[in-house]
Amino acid sequence: MPDAGTEARKKLSSQGLDCHGSYVDAAFCRNLGLVDYAGQQKLHGTRIAIAGLGGVGGVHLMTLARTGIGAFNLADMDSFSVVNVNRQFGATLDSFGRPKLDVMVELARSVNPCICFKTFPDGISDANLDDFLKGVDIVVDGIDFFAFDIRRRLFKRAHDLGIPVITAGPLGFSTAVLVFMPDGMGFDEYFDINDTLPEMHRYLHFAMGLAPRATHLAYLDRQFVNIHEKRGPSLHLACQLCAAMAATEVVRIVLGKGRVRAVPCYAQFDPYAREFRKGRLLMGNRNPLQRLKIAVAKKLFLGGGGREGLVVPPVPSLVQRGEPVPANAVEYVMRAGMQAPSGDNVQPWRFLPFDGGIDVALHTEADHSFFNYDQIASLVACGAAVENMRLAAAATGLGPTVTLVPQPAEQSSHPVVARVEFSPDGQEREDVLHSAMWRRCTNRNMFGAKPLPHEVCDRLSGMVAQAKSGFDDIRLHWVTGKSERKALARAIFLADRIRVERRDLHEYFMSMVRFEKPSQKYGDGLPLKNLCAGLAGEQFLKLVRPWTAMRIANMAGVGRLMPMHSALGIMRSGGAGLLTIGKVDMPSILQGGQAIERVWIMLEHMGFAFQPMTAITLFRLREMLEGDGAFSELHRGFMKEAWGIVSALFPEANGRIPLMLFRTGRGPRLRYGTYRRELHTLMLQR
Ligand SMILES: Cc1cc2nc3c(=O)[nH]c(=O)nc-3n(C[C@H](O)[C@H](O)[C@H](O)COP(=O)(O)O)c2cc1C
Repeated sequence: MPDAGTEARKKLSSQGLDCHGSYVDAAFCRNLGLVDYAGQQKLHGTRIAIAGLGGVGGVHLMTLARTGIGAFNLADMDSFSVVNVNRQFGATLDSFGRPKLDVMVELARSVNPCICFKTFPDGISDANLDDFLKGVDIVVDGIDFFAFDIRRRLFKRAHDLGIPVITAGPLGFSTAVLVFMPDGMGFDEYFDINDTLPEMHRYLHFAMGLAPRATHLAYLDRQFVNIHEKRGPSLHLACQLCAAMAATEVVRIVLGKGRVRAVPCYAQFDPYAREFRKGRLLMGNRNPLQRLKIAVAKKLFLGGGGREGLVVPPVPSLVQRGEPVPANAVEYVMRAGMQAPSGDNVQPWRFLPFDGGIDVALHTEADHSFFNYDQIASLVACGAAVENMRLAAAATGLGPTVTLVPQPAEQSSHPVVARVEFSPDGQEREDVLHSAMWRRCTNRNMFGAKPLPHEVCDRLSGMVAQAKSGFDDIRLHWVTGKSERKALARAIFLADRIRVERRDLHEYFMSMVRFEKPSQKYGDGLPLKNLCAGLAGEQFLKLVRPWTAMRIANMAGVGRLMPMHSALGIMRSGGAGLLTIGKVDMPSILQGGQAIERVWIMLEHMGFAFQPMTAITLFRLREMLEGDGAFSELHRGFMKEAWGIVSALFPEANGRIPLMLFRTGRGPRLRYGTYRRELHTLMLQR
């Protein structure tokens, strides 16, 4: 069987060309005038090592191939997927699921079939570093920003072996380029890295050293940069700039064209900011001014550490078609389920794994609150857990199928409400929602009041609509205007007054607030700090913890501070959404829970914070299903006024079942999250 190279050369010869000069002469003839003939031959005789063929690495390869480089050592162990499309050269519909290395070699070979490749499909490691660098003239860095340690080792080894290394980082709309020459500063020296430097600080040192006078920070939305979660934005146009700048340095080094400005010299080119900044960072990151900047950047990007309580388990490897489902994949899916939201974080789900899937049971004893009428709130939570499990299973190749209420609900304290069955197919799906799923949280901070763009509302409403979602009858309605939010704030205020004026609700809420630290020892409930009440608010909550104190506060009028805070939350948001279902039965409520979770996660992905405001909808549900007998005369009046406002604001929702009202908007990052119980306490034996 001839290899792809032989095939390509055959194609060449059918056109009267060969790899002994004629193809290179013809293909690169338009380089003449900028690169002379001897120089072009030199480039053809140059071997470049590129580790990583994603965003920058792939474009590096193609740019260098078109510049006429004749040999490459390439390493990558990843495959293309849909989320690579925005920036990775080789990511196309046809390449999804294919190894980046194979795709990129094919593409580069289709540009120049005379290129000689040495490939490293397992990526680079200490074990093959020397082999990877053998015969190499220059290393061009294509390694993922967060794969810091292997980058550090590669740079060090190349430096030891006397090989220049070029790195170019796509930062915003810009590129920042550094060249490490064998006789100049090394990686550790320039970036001021040592073995004791904490991991997060290493990333920051790297970013700050790349662009010491950063242009992109002026327009970068910091909310989308999270060093703890190892994510940040990246544009193809910036990757292209990187490749252009790096290839220019390659030509400069190979042809000896002009002086190479190695580190501590730096350069950043930003067409968006219309800036080209270059200079010399004497002593690298140890430069006193640079140290100061790094200290500020630490505050901005690492301030307060990651979210307290957030634990993201490692994603298991994709499960291939026909393979048995490994225990770690089953555990991963259950952990995704338990990360779902639930009223007051009661976690009313239980998991029963079986061969080929997991049953989700409702723990009917989990939530005795007035809010949880007929288990509706708990069923919503179970629906959300099922959605998380579906996402996690889809992302790990388990090909999940969800059946809601798989058998008639039993009269037990743990009726099975959903079944998630696996049919492994090795396909990674639902990337976007899957990664945002772990970050999803309830954010009770005040948000920006800029109205939510209609594009966002339309996308989310479309997402839960019947035709696209597979859900039977779910709708999402919005109010975003200032005057409408003001009206809604009044309705929220009234519903929240009922919440603080009822002893049962007050005592239940206080029993779920974890006043003592460390809150994780409880594994459920709401850590005080999670409520985002501020220091004064926290003191107030402590004060009114006993009902007698709350009653006095209510009599004195100060009890209204809490409903006022909730109402303010509506004003300080970009809008509110109301999710409705067509009928009240178990499958519809579970689907409603799934839909809420999908919307919530998508908003998280888009950079919007979210807080359910369910007192009003859960009270209304109780009224609709049971009558208003459970409310006092005064509170009936509150509900009449409150629901009148909601009905007027959401006329399309009339006649439908309101499942959840929420507010959303651009909010500050949540610093204190919630905790979850130990997984084994949420598992049931058959
Ligand atoms: C059915 C349901 C009702 C909820 N109601 C409220 C609410 O009225 N106010 C609120 O701040 N959070 C509400 N939450 C959010 C929970 O308190 C939250 O999901 C839980 O504490 C876990 O925290 P997390 O969402 O940050 O993971 C609700 C969640 C669910 C599923």
